[in-house]
Amino acid sequence: MTRSSNTKSSPTIWAIGGGKGGVGKSVLAVNLAIKLARRGITVTLVDMDLGGANDHTLLGLPIPEKRLEDFLQRRVEQLFQAVAPTGIDGLGLVAGSGIGGANTPYAQKERLIRHLRALPSEIVLLDLGAGTAYNVLDFFVAANLGLVVTVPEHTSVENANAFLRAAFFRRLARSPVTRSIRGPVRELFRTPRNGETLSPRQVLATAGELQTEAARSSVAALAGFAPAIVVNQVCLPKEQELPEQMARAVREYFGIAAVGAGSLPADRLVTRSVRERRPVVEAYPGGAFSTGVEMIAERLLGVGSSHA
Ligand SMILES: Nc1ncnc2c1ncn2[C@@H]1O[C@H](COP(=O)(O)OP(=O)(O)O)[C@@H](O)[C@H]1O
Ligand SMILES: [Mg+2]
Repeated sequence: MTRSSNTKSSPTIWAIGGGKGGVGKSVLAVNLAIKLARRGITVTLVDMDLGGANDHTLLGLPIPEKRLEDFLQRRVEQLFQAVAPTGIDGLGLVAGSGIGGANTPYAQKERLIRHLRALPSEIVLLDLGAGTAYNVLDFFVAANLGLVVTVPEHTSVENANAFLRAAFFRRLARSPVTRSIRGPVRELFRTPRNGETLSPRQVLATAGELQTEAARSSVAALAGFAPAIVVNQVCLPKEQELPEQMARAVREYFGIAAVGAGSLPADRLVTRSVRERRPVVEAYPGGAFSTGVEMIAERLLGVGSSHA
């Protein structure tokens, strides 16, 4: 992907989510966006954490004059009018403001998704808030690529798994083809067989055998839904295997093509750079975290091109 190759077509949307706050979603979003831009890819980073937006701070910028809320409250009609320069070539920012975050009506979300798809860059990177509210899930499942971030602690892994589960069912429910005819598939989820509830993968396999339109569209709704898992703040060598282990469990249980996107080390340079208000990949490009972000960017560009 190069800057000149497809500036006219729709951008590829990457969303970063995860069950828990403080796991490193924003640090990853900001530094991944910079790495991509430094490779010559045009990127718009959109700070969608309406409860605690701080991407501008991580970029070392004052709060931009125009922000996401200006679009949501129709003070600007077009989302691109809320894109602020970042001082980094090829990288724009739609800043958040740290207010709001209540339930947005679906029509408002559809308007935002439409405008995200019309932004004039090759990749649009969404930094979503924590949790499994529809305000987060709806953007995660609408993205071309969804990244789930966790840390190795089992409470955080549990939250990431809960997030993936919620995203799976939201994707199924929101799909336009499934919406009106999903009854038979929903019935399968509810009905235990031989005393056991079927796993989503078994439900879809059984649904496939039914050869009904509902079954076919449910399977189609999940096609291309391939969340990628990042484990941040890794300290022990065996924790590096966690992303792939988690992805394998998701593949087996849900029957979707989840991938391990890589791990990122706990790195004091990250905390230092946050304190210094300089993105770590710019301030300490040779550090362990920066190298990890670079590897994740490479891997995702590979995944992204096969799902674009
Ligand atoms: N790999 C890391 N090594 C050291 N500190 C980290 C790392 N990742 C994140 N942090 C610390 O965690 C804090 C919270 O990260 P942040 O990206 O804001 O979380 P989230 O967006 O998921 O709520 C950061 O300000 C930083 O100090
Ligand atoms: Mg954040």
